Amino acid sequence: MFHEAFVGQSLKRTMSAIVMAGLLCGHAAFAQTNQNTYEPTIAQAGKDVIWVPTPNDLVVRMLETAKVSPNDLVYDLGAGDGKIPIQAARQFGARAVGIEFNPDMANLARQNAQRANVSDKVTIVTGDIFEEDFSNATVVTLYLLTSLNLKLKPKLLEMKPGTRVVSNSFMMGAWEPDEIINPEAGGRGYYWVVPAKVQGDWSLNGLPGATTATLSLQQKFQKVEGTLTFGDNRSQRVTGKLNGSQLTLGYKDANDKEQIFVGEVAGKKINASLQTSPTTVITATRSP
Ligand SMILES: C[S@@+](CC[C@H](N)C(=O)[O-])C[C@H]1O[C@@H](n2cnc3c(N)ncnc32)[C@H](O)[C@@H]1O
Repeated sequence: MFHEAFVGQSLKRTMSAIVMAGLLCGHAAFAQTNQNTYEPTIAQAGKDVIWVPTPNDLVVRMLETAKVSPNDLVYDLGAGDGKIPIQAARQFGARAVGIEFNPDMANLARQNAQRANVSDKVTIVTGDIFEEDFSNATVVTLYLLTSLNLKLKPKLLEMKPGTRVVSNSFMMGAWEPDEIINPEAGGRGYYWVVPAKVQGDWSLNGLPGATTATLSLQQKFQKVEGTLTFGDNRSQRVTGKLNGSQLTLGYKDANDKEQIFVGEVAGKKINASLQTSPTTVITATRSP
């Protein structure tokens, strides 16, 4: 299965990372210090993908990009030796869970967490990422394959809006990343924020200059476009984007002035204001 994606561009990046990561990150050195410790081999087979550790600098950049903090619960899907959950706990103070299918690898990850003094914050689950529940994660990290990311994508998109997802090397198909991470030492990461669901019809109250208005939205992941219609039937195309539950939409007001509508999506309501007038209270309610 994993051979598929290790062909081509990703393979090149991954395999060059293999050598550097192995040399730089000290896993080999750690394994040699304890005769009783399981010694994994870089590129060894895994259930759905081989084991290759994410290079240290990319681990840090991925967690920084996701703005990981002590309030977060980070899940690394396919945790290998646990380096991502351990770093999330050690440097960023987060609670973290690694899910790893290979029981030897999972044990090694637990030992590594102990050695890093973060066992109180880090849990390693021996299990399959396609079976285990990670729905309460606030940050999900991945170093899998495009095909596996695509298999996880529907579940990721059902997570709480605002959940951050970061992937080493592999993308998410039509769901374009919100940010691309290019560490100086090479490699590449991709960052997404799970968008709220806004597709459909909304009625607006409080939009300055329009006693009533309706908004009909189409959504493609974090990208939004649609039609804004004022009560007098004047309508216009609008475009915008979602950053988690925050919706921003550009439109022209009754005086033909460019405005930016900024709203917080909360289920069937959007509590909004205008960027130029944050005290304006606008409410959007989903039409039945
Ligand atoms: C490329 S490594 C990434 C390791 C770690 N996340 C990192 O970035 O350093 C992928 C890991 O996923 C594990 N794995 C493969 N298929 C899995 C599955 N279905 N469930 C859980 N772990 C899996 C492999 O054993 C391997 O350790």
